[in-house]
Amino acid sequence: MNIIIMGLPGAGKGTQAEKIIQEFQIPHISTGDMFRLAMKQETELGLKAKSYMDNGDLVPNEVTIGIVKERLSQSDAKEGFLLDGFPRTIEQAEALNDIMKELNTSIDRTIFIDVPEEELMNRLTGRRICSSCGKAYHLVFNPPKVEGVCDLDGAKLYQRDDDNPETVANRLEVNVKQTQPLIDFYKDQGVFVNVDGARDIDEVFSDVADILKNI
Ligand code: AP5
Ligand code: ZN
Repeated sequence: MNIIIMGLPGAGKGTQAEKIIQEFQIPHISTGDMFRLAMKQETELGLKAKSYMDNGDLVPNEVTIGIVKERLSQSDAKEGFLLDGFPRTIEQAEALNDIMKELNTSIDRTIFIDVPEEELMNRLTGRRICSSCGKAYHLVFNPPKVEGVCDLDGAKLYQRDDDNPETVANRLEVNVKQTQPLIDFYKDQGVFVNVDGARDIDEVFSDVADILKNI
């Protein structure tokens, strides 16, 4: 099962991905997570990505496509994968098709989590993330049981550097531009599904799970 989860920043890609990988046991391949890990480890990739991410701009295609190609070639992705945050441009989508051909496989579904842009600023500025397991919470919509602490492991929650209002505004602007051409690209390929993401997390997941069970 080769799946792409798409949506504007804050639409709930990571939140749904966490549930999908639990139920369907496929690896979660998130370009944002890969860049954040590289930045934390101060690798060459992390240094390259940092200024773009801090501004909310896209990391250049040649960097991003390279890391995805390498990741998809690893053995655990052979039985299926969930791509989150990639592709984000038509160039990336075309490169992904080439990678799929080389690996003798194809994308089964592209699930678009559809949330009106007005809601996304609130979702992102209120997001808090576990410093140990990476689980995302929201101060209002999905609060932890104890303030500031992860339910799963008791680790402290933090706010992502790019979740301040200024950077969020740029992330939204940058991504809105890219989204419609990508939707059209996957509609043309006959794998596109739209899911209403402006509902409870579990209601959204129920639709996502139905789509995946019917592949
Ligand atoms: P990335 O990490 O991919 O960030 P993003 O696309 O901006 O998306 P987010 O992770 O912020 O949001 P999400 O949709 O996962 O939402 P979440 O589930 O957390 O990318 C970061 C940066 O890396 C980019 O800006 C770019 O610089 C670079 N990058 C990454 N990929 C790239 C690529 N392919 N090419 C070039 N550059 C790339 O939910 C958000 C909040 O809402 C949470 O608080 C959550 O609890 C809450 N929430 C979730 N669902 C619901 C719901 N149904 N109702 C109410 N609240 C909800
Ligand atoms: Zn945790």
